[in-house]
Amino acid sequence: MDNISIKVLNDLDPDITFELKKLEISNLGQSASINEWVIPVFIKYGKVIVAVKCEKKYLKKKEEIIAVNELLRKWGDPKTVFIHSFYVKESFRGKGIGSLLLEESIKILKKEKVKNIELTVDPQNMQAIRLYEKFNFKKADYIANLYGKGIHRDLMICKI
Ligand SMILES: CC(C)(COP(=O)(O)OP(=O)(O)OC[C@H]1O[C@@H](n2cnc3c(N)ncnc32)[C@H](O)[C@@H]1OP(=O)(O)O)[C@@H](O)C(=O)NCCC(=O)NCCS
Repeated sequence: MDNISIKVLNDLDPDITFELKKLEISNLGQSASINEWVIPVFIKYGKVIVAVKCEKKYLKKKEEIIAVNELLRKWGDPKTVFIHSFYVKESFRGKGIGSLLLEESIKILKKEKVKNIELTVDPQNMQAIRLYEKFNFKKADYIANLYGKGIHRDLMICKI
């Protein structure tokens, strides 16, 4: 797709926090979302990598966040990171944006000497599992009741 770029968010900006909060809820649902108390923490102490669509209207540039990857680094092993959330805005799915964001995120992480990327996924979320498998993530474990009673997850790991 044209006019898509990948960016690491560095600045704390209440407008971006508000936009991310809305995206979290619409793409992950209320209970899995992080909010204005946590989003700035991820930007400052973790890493937030986004895909942005840029429209140039006259001289003004309008940027829209269309996909988000939020990461934490493991305290006892800085070569390992954990993808806390990964999503593409619904109207942009199935067009390669998730693949682009994951591919570019891996390049960024490699430059930072990261060796392992971990994440958890709903074992029935085949769309996400196919995306992760495409990038060589392998199922490493099944964790029952990880996020509450009946909310099970597969742990997937990718060595980069
Ligand atoms: C999972 C998600 C991030 C994929 O993003 P996307 O931009 O649609 O992904 P892509 O278009 O790059 O497709 C990547 C791969 O996913 C698979 N895929 C994409 N759409 C699919 C569909 N409708 N059905 C099955 N597999 C699909 C394909 O294997 C595809 O690779 P290919 O086109 O090379 O065969 C997106 O669907 C999403 O945001 N879902 C809701 C949030 C979510 O579940 N996040 C994951 C939490 S762990």
